[in-house]
This record gives sequence, structure tokens and C-alpha cells, in this order.
Amino acid sequence: MIHFPQECTNGSGSLCHQQTILVTGGAGFIGSHTTLQLLGEGYKVVVIDSLDNSVEESVKRVADLAGENGHNLYFFRVDLRDKDALEVVFSMTKFDAVIHFAGLKAVAESVAKPLFYYRNNMIGTINLLEVMAEHGCKKLVFSSSATVYGQPSSVPCTEDLPLSTTNPYGRTKLFVEEIARDLHIADPEWKIILLRYFNPVGAHPSGLIGEDPRGVPNNLMPFLQQVAVGRRKELTVFGTDYPTKDGTGVRDYIHVMDLATGHIAAVRKLFTPKEIGCTAYNLGTGKGTTVLEIVAAFERASGKKIPLRYADRRPGDCSEIYASTEKAERELQWKAVYTIDDMCRDQWNWASKNPWGYRHPDLANGNRT
Ligand code: NAD
Ligand code: UFG
Repeated sequence: MIHFPQECTNGSGSLCHQQTILVTGGAGFIGSHTTLQLLGEGYKVVVIDSLDNSVEESVKRVADLAGENGHNLYFFRVDLRDKDALEVVFSMTKFDAVIHFAGLKAVAESVAKPLFYYRNNMIGTINLLEVMAEHGCKKLVFSSSATVYGQPSSVPCTEDLPLSTTNPYGRTKLFVEEIARDLHIADPEWKIILLRYFNPVGAHPSGLIGEDPRGVPNNLMPFLQQVAVGRRKELTVFGTDYPTKDGTGVRDYIHVMDLATGHIAAVRKLFTPKEIGCTAYNLGTGKGTTVLEIVAAFERASGKKIPLRYADRRPGDCSEIYASTEKAERELQWKAVYTIDDMCRDQWNWASKNPWGYRHPDLANGNRT
């Protein structure tokens, strides 16, 4: 099905051509923030999203936040598993590059429903790559993940560490990375940047867009936020006996605004005449923070006391992971600038203004239909 809201057309109902980026999954958390920054940089952006884990309201808010540039934003409700619908989108306009965020990302759900995850994340991506190739669009930025480092043998993780992963979701990231490398070997015209995100958190400083997961959040920050606004009773801290400074797990949290600028840097690199092949970059801050440090920072930002329950380690979790940022700094000229306090401030700003996310309270806990 294709959805084409009036406010996202140029008035004539057709798309006019200038440098145009296709953003798959652009209604989601990272995609919406990146779309806003692309618009701010003067790109024309076509978002496609199945709205499986997002709502159209996020795209509307991005258009509003972009002001004048909001006219350069188009939205189609398309599922990447529907290749015919993708064909229609590609036949309407010529894309200069694609940023591919679309995918399902809940680790536990991927363990319970592996075929669903493989179909969505793998078949969806293969459809996209095939249609891109047919239409001569061979520039891609792909949302990979630090999950491809598995239980890292050393930290900070450099991009050349051996890759492995522990669950079906992680394998979809690793397999797509391998497909991308094979594609570039078979056809060196492809330029592909694999961005391995560490732990994206925070929200746009306006508090108008942010992360709004469907159902019970899997990740620390959205769960913490829902406790702070009273939607959940307490935060469970998974593991207190890790070999870290306070016994809780260490991660590299990165502000979603920094991630978005990382994508702009990657897109710019795709448009340089240099041969870039298929190459991976970490997007992280290079700094590790424990669960209890995040809780303390969030309490400072929100002025709320977060009730905690201590529990055993969560299966599959590593003790400590954070990025080496050298390659991205050197080759993308990009570096994260936001601190943990900035991340918690902006997360709380979003949470306090939108305690039920984009949705009505009755729908906010809904499962996927
Ligand atoms: P998100 O769920 O907010 O956004 C993903 C979007 O993709 C959603 O809007 C969803 O509706 C859409 N989508 C899913 N399947 C689709 C399909 N078949 N066709 C079209 N649209 C589809 O997630 P996010 O946090 O913004 O993550 C974006 C990407 O980054 C994902 O690929 C995710 O795996 C990856 N990533 C996220 C994290 C994280 O912790 N947020 C970490 C590493 C990597
Ligand atoms: N944690 C809790 N309680 C919770 C949720 C998380 O204590 O309710 C802890 C975890 O045990 C871990 C830390 O908070 O120590 C961060 O956990 P997240 O689930 O927020 O993030 P992960 O690093 O485990 O995984 C996330 C994504 C993966 C992705 C990875 C790297 O879920 O898909 O970041 O990008 F691969």
C-alpha cells in the first residue's frame, strides 16, 4: 500500500528532482532524527516505512520542525517485503543514495520469532538492494550495530575486530554486512557505508520527536523513561556482579543527534569521487558508562527517584563494550559531542512532554498486529 499525505507532496502530486535521499525506516527513532538533519542540509528526502514500529505522526513532526524545508519531505507507507511497492517508489523518482534504517530490532522477539526477523530484515534488504541496482542507485548507508562484535575480545572495539553475534537479530545485521561486502566485490560501482551504532539514546532538543517503542521496552533508556513518567513501577537492573566499577554493565551511549550528524557525514562521503568500497564505521563516543551511572544521571536530569530492582544478568549480555572512534574521526571527520547529561536532559524533555510517546495511552502498550 502506498500512502502519500498531501502535506508531503509538492502540490502537483509528483516528485521533482534534485539531490534526493531515500530513507527507509524514516518514521522510526533514528530515521526521524536523521531525516530532520538531512532536510536541514537541503536534501530532498523520501521516507518509506511500514509503520510496524512507528507512527506517521513522527514524520509530520519532522516536517513541522524542518520549517520551510519540510516541503522537501515525502512519505510513503511501504513495507520492504513488498517489492512491487518498492518498484513504484523507485519508478517515481531518481534516488542519489539510500539510508537503510528499516528493520525490526527487538533481540528477545527475534529469538522467539526467527523466521519473522529473517524475512523482514533479510528479504526486505535484498528486495531493496535489487531494486536499487535495477534503477542504477548504488550508494548505500546501512544501519548496522555494535551487536556484530558479539562478546568483544577487547575494548575499545575497532572495526577490524572479528565479528560474531549471539541472536537472530544480530545475525541479520551480520548477514547484511556480508551481503554488502559481496555485492561490492561483484560490482565495484557500489559505494556502501556500514554504520555500527553503539547505544543510541536522547531525543531532539525540541522534545517533539524521540524514541517510542511499541510494547514493553527492551532497552535501558526507554524503560527508565517509562518508570520516570509513572508508566512502570521500577527498573530492573540486570546483573550486579560484572567486573566493572560498580558491578553493572558498561555501554557506549550516544545521543541520537550525534548519530544523525554521523549519517550526514557518511552521505557526504558517498558523494566524494574517491573509491570507498564497502566499509564499516563505529558510531559511538568511545566512553563507557554503567547502568547505575545512567540511572544517577537520569535522576539528576528529571528530578525523579527511580525505584530499582536488582536481578541476575540478562542472557547474552556482555560485561563491557564501547567504541574506538578513531576511524570515524579520521575518515568521516565526525565526532560525537553530546555528554551523558545532555542525553538524559533531552530524553527527559521528550518523555515529560510526551509521556505516552506519539500515541494515545490506550494504544501505547499495544502489540504488533
Ligand atoms: P525503530 O524501530 O524506531 O525504526 C525502524 C523503523 O523501520 C520503524 O519505523 C519500523 O516501522 C520500520 N520497519 C521495520 N521493518 C520494516 C519493513 N519491512 N519495511 C519498512 N519499514 C520497516 O528503530 P531505530 O532505533 O530507529 O533503529 C533503526 C535501525 O538502526 C534499525 O535497523 C536497527 O536495527 C538499527 N540499530 C538500532 C539500535 C538501537 O539501539 N536503537 C542499535 C543498533 C542498530
Ligand atoms: N539493562 C538493565 N535493565 C533494563 C534494560 C537494560 O539493566 O531494563 C542493562 C543491560 O543489562 C545492559 C545495559 O542496560 O547492561 C544496556 O542494555 P540495552 O538493552 O539498552 O542495550 P544493549 O547494549 O544490551 O543492546 C542494544 C540493542 C542491541 C544492539 C546493541 C548495540 O538492544 O540491539 O545495543 O548497538 F545491538
